[in-house]
Amino acid sequence: MFFEPFRIKVVEPIKKTTFAQREFYLREVHYNLFNIRAENVLIDFLTDSGTSAMSAKQWGALMEGDESYAGSQSYEKFVAVVSQMTGMNYVVPTHQGRASERILFHEAVKEGDIIPSNTHFDTTRANIEFRGASALDLVIDVAKKTSFLHPFKGNIDIEKLKILLKKTDSKKIPLCLLTITNNSCAGQPVSLQNIADTKKLLSQYDIPLFIDAARFAENAYFIKMREEGFQNQSIPDIVRKLFSYADGILMSAKKDGFGNIGGFLAFKEKKWVDLIRNFLIMTEGFPTYGGLAGRDLEALAQGFKEVVDEDYLEYRGRSLEKFGSSLKSVGIPIVEPVGGHAVYIDAKELLPHIPALQYPGQSLVVELYRMGGIRTVEIGSCMFGKVDQFTKKEVSSDKELVRLAVPRRVYTQSHLEYVVDVLAQIYKKRNALKGFKIIQQDRYLRHFTAQFEPL
Ligand code: F0G
Repeated sequence: MFFEPFRIKVVEPIKKTTFAQREFYLREVHYNLFNIRAENVLIDFLTDSGTSAMSAKQWGALMEGDESYAGSQSYEKFVAVVSQMTGMNYVVPTHQGRASERILFHEAVKEGDIIPSNTHFDTTRANIEFRGASALDLVIDVAKKTSFLHPFKGNIDIEKLKILLKKTDSKKIPLCLLTITNNSCAGQPVSLQNIADTKKLLSQYDIPLFIDAARFAENAYFIKMREEGFQNQSIPDIVRKLFSYADGILMSAKKDGFGNIGGFLAFKEKKWVDLIRNFLIMTEGFPTYGGLAGRDLEALAQGFKEVVDEDYLEYRGRSLEKFGSSLKSVGIPIVEPVGGHAVYIDAKELLPHIPALQYPGQSLVVELYRMGGIRTVEIGSCMFGKVDQFTKKEVSSDKELVRLAVPRRVYTQSHLEYVVDVLAQIYKKRNALKGFKIIQQDRYLRHFTAQFEPL
């Protein structure tokens, strides 16, 4: 038995729409769900980012915001909480994760560099490539098999990293980045052993280890549940241990910070702050607010205290797991085991009659909205498909997934049951679903703005 470890104090109505209305809205936005008005979405699983419900304590903390331009008390509180939680000595707020990426990579990454990772998130990859460097994914091979069970399917492949380090001039690798949990790999966790092994290997080459910590608490929960020797350790202890191997952290606090906005950069050594300070002030803000209001810093400081609560994490983990098994029971193929923040549907397996470059994932995304007003996101060839420089032909992604990202503390178990019902109906008519073609796209991160036409 498990249930939401909170009760509801403030509610927000959600609007029902008709099938015909949704058909109309879909045509209006050229089948790109990023352009649907949120008002016309019933269940919004587009992202778990910035969509959390804040607690009463967080709302209370907003009033405490010290809006001084420099050296505010809210900044001091924020730094105290983050340092305590991560063990990092220097903490710099930013307005969100990709600002942390842009600022760090602007100073630390140059043309021709290689940044290895388990898997880079898409904004991370784009910010690296924008510098003229390569973002290299070295996740373990089994991560590519959607139904292969592995407790830490988000791990980096140490052997592959070894080979890279042996054959590359280490000056070309300014840092290695581990994403925990591994978002682009279905939110799969990374083990503490893997983090420790990565650090040990990098140390031989004097290469710093950074952690993209957007979902660090969910990752820590999986370590506690699945990794030998951690069952009796507290979540805050596991969190400190996993960060102890890192030289720095890139954080989007819009996930495991329970924030609607926010992020930070944190470092063990001062040299990193010295490196980024100028560009930070030029583009983000003075180092004591970094693009955030004092009240945001207050809400985040409180959020970080709440997210490491074990009752919350247990409910979060078990509710996602149950959501996944309910979907399986109505025939929907999912990535297993279920990760930390979302259930991923394998659209390639569900819709084998739609070729990759006709975007089976997008077809399912559109159908989920059409049938149930549910908004999700394609993580497949729309997001990762690329035009080959030489052949000028589009190359598909190796997976065609649809992410049902569950916002934190927002939807109840019955909302999840509704989604399972809608997917059960889609399963029955799956053979009638058709593919799409892209009629307009941008150079970077095309999935946000692409326009589609049904085939
Ligand atoms: N790193 C990871 C692992 C992420 O999942 C995200 C964002 C970012 C960095 C960038 O952070 O949005 O604050 O700028 N992920 C969101 C998502 C957008 O929907 O998965 P941001």
